[in-house]
Amino acid sequence: MTTLPQPPDILSPEFAADPYPAYRILRAHYPLFHDPGTDSFLISRYGDVARAFRDPVFTSDNYAWQLEPAHGGRTLPQMSGREHAVRRALVAPAFRGRELREKFLPVIERNARELIDTFRDAAETDLVARFATRFPINVIVDMLGLDRADHDRFHSWYASVVGFLANLAQDPETADAGLRAGRELSAYLLPIIRERRATPGDDLLSRLCTAEVDGTRMSDQDITSFVSLLLSAGGETTDKALAALFRNLLAHPDQLAAVRADRSLIPAALAESLRYTPPVQMIMRQPAAEVTLSGGTVPAGATVTCLIGSANRDERHYARPDTFHVLRGDLTPATAFSAAADHVAFALGRHFCVGALLAKTEVEVAVNQLLDAFPAMDFAEGTAPADAGVFTRGPERLRVRLVPGDDGTRAREA
Ligand code: HEM
Repeated sequence: MTTLPQPPDILSPEFAADPYPAYRILRAHYPLFHDPGTDSFLISRYGDVARAFRDPVFTSDNYAWQLEPAHGGRTLPQMSGREHAVRRALVAPAFRGRELREKFLPVIERNARELIDTFRDAAETDLVARFATRFPINVIVDMLGLDRADHDRFHSWYASVVGFLANLAQDPETADAGLRAGRELSAYLLPIIRERRATPGDDLLSRLCTAEVDGTRMSDQDITSFVSLLLSAGGETTDKALAALFRNLLAHPDQLAAVRADRSLIPAALAESLRYTPPVQMIMRQPAAEVTLSGGTVPAGATVTCLIGSANRDERHYARPDTFHVLRGDLTPATAFSAAADHVAFALGRHFCVGALLAKTEVEVAVNQLLDAFPAMDFAEGTAPADAGVFTRGPERLRVRLVPGDDGTRAREA
C-alpha cells in the first residue's frame, strides 16, 4: 500500500527555504488543497492556474483586503470591466512600443550606466544591493518625474507595501508597516500632485494628473494609489527577476557564455529564468461562483491561491521542468512578454502584467551593460546564493567577483 505524503505547510520554514519539493507534492497529490494557515485553496497545476487567470469567474476582489488598504485606494489589479480598461490605457502606452523605445529607453540606459559606474572598478560587488534593488525603482521614479535623491524612502515604502500584500501569516506589525508606508507615500506625493496639476510636465505623473476618465479628472487619492501601485509593482518584481537571472546564468556558466556571445538570447534567458524562479510566486483570486478544477470544487467567494512557482514547473506542461535551460523548446521567447505567454510569471488574461515589456527592456539593457563592463564574473562566495521569500522570491544578495573590461581602470586580476 502506498501512503500519501503529508500536505505541505506553506507557512513553514521548510517551504520558505525551498518551496519546489512542496509544489511537486501538491501537483501530484493535492492539486486542490484547502490550506488552513491562509484559509485559501491552493492550486498548483499549470492548467488550473492559467484558467484562474483567464476565466472571468475568478475575480480579483481579494485585493480589496490584500492591497487596497496599503495603496489607500482601488488600483488596477482590483478593477474589472471598463474601469480597469480605461485606467490601464492611461499607462500602458508608456510601457511598450514607440514611447518605451524612444522616450524611456535612454532613461533606462542612463540609469543602468550610472549604477554600474559606482562599482565599475571594484573587484567584487553585491549585484542585489548595488544594482538590482536600485535600478528598476530609479527607472520608474524617473518615468514619474519624481526625485531620485529620495531613492531610499521609495525603496522602504515599496518594500513595506509589498510586505502588506505578501502578509500570508497576517502578522500585525507587517500590516501596520504597510499601512504606514501607504500614508507616508501619499503625504509625500500630495504637494507634488498639486504642482503637476498646475504646471504639468512631460512625465507619467503629469499624465495621471491631467488625464480625464469619463470626463472627470482622477482624484488626488486615485493618483497616489496608482503611483503606489507602479512603484511596488515595477520595483520589487524586476529587482528579483534581474538578480535571479544573473544567479541562474552564473550557476550555468555554459549558458552564460552563450548569452555573452549572442546577446539576442537575453529575452530567452529572461523568459526561462521567470519560468524557473518567478519573482511573484503566488497570486490570489476569488471565484464569483462555484468552480470545478483538478481535484474538486471551490465554493463561490473562497480565496484561491494560484501557485505560479508551481505551475511554471508543472511536468504536465514542460519537459524536465526542474532544469534551467535558456534554449528549452517548450517556452516561446517571442510571446513570453505578452498575454499569449506559455509561462505564468506575469499572470495571463486581462490583468497580464502591463509592465512586462518595460521589465524585458530593463533586463536587456542591464544584462548587456553588465556583460560589456565585466568580461568575467563569478560567485564571490563560490556557490550560488539561495532565494528567499514565499510570496515574492529572489536572491537577497548576489556577491560577484568582477573582472573589468578594457575601459575599466583596474588592471585585470591574475
Ligand atoms: C519581471 C518583472 C515583473 C513581474 C514578474 C511582474 C508580475 C506581475 C504579475 C504576476 C501581475 C498580475 C497580478 C494579478 O493578476 O493579480 C502583474 C500585474 C501588474 N504589473 Fe507587473 N511584473 C513585473 C514588472 C512590472 C513592471 C516593470 C511594472 C511597471 C510599473 C509592472 C506593473 C504592473 C501593473 C500596473 C500590474 C497590474 C495590471 C492589471 O491589473 O491590469 N510590473 N505583474
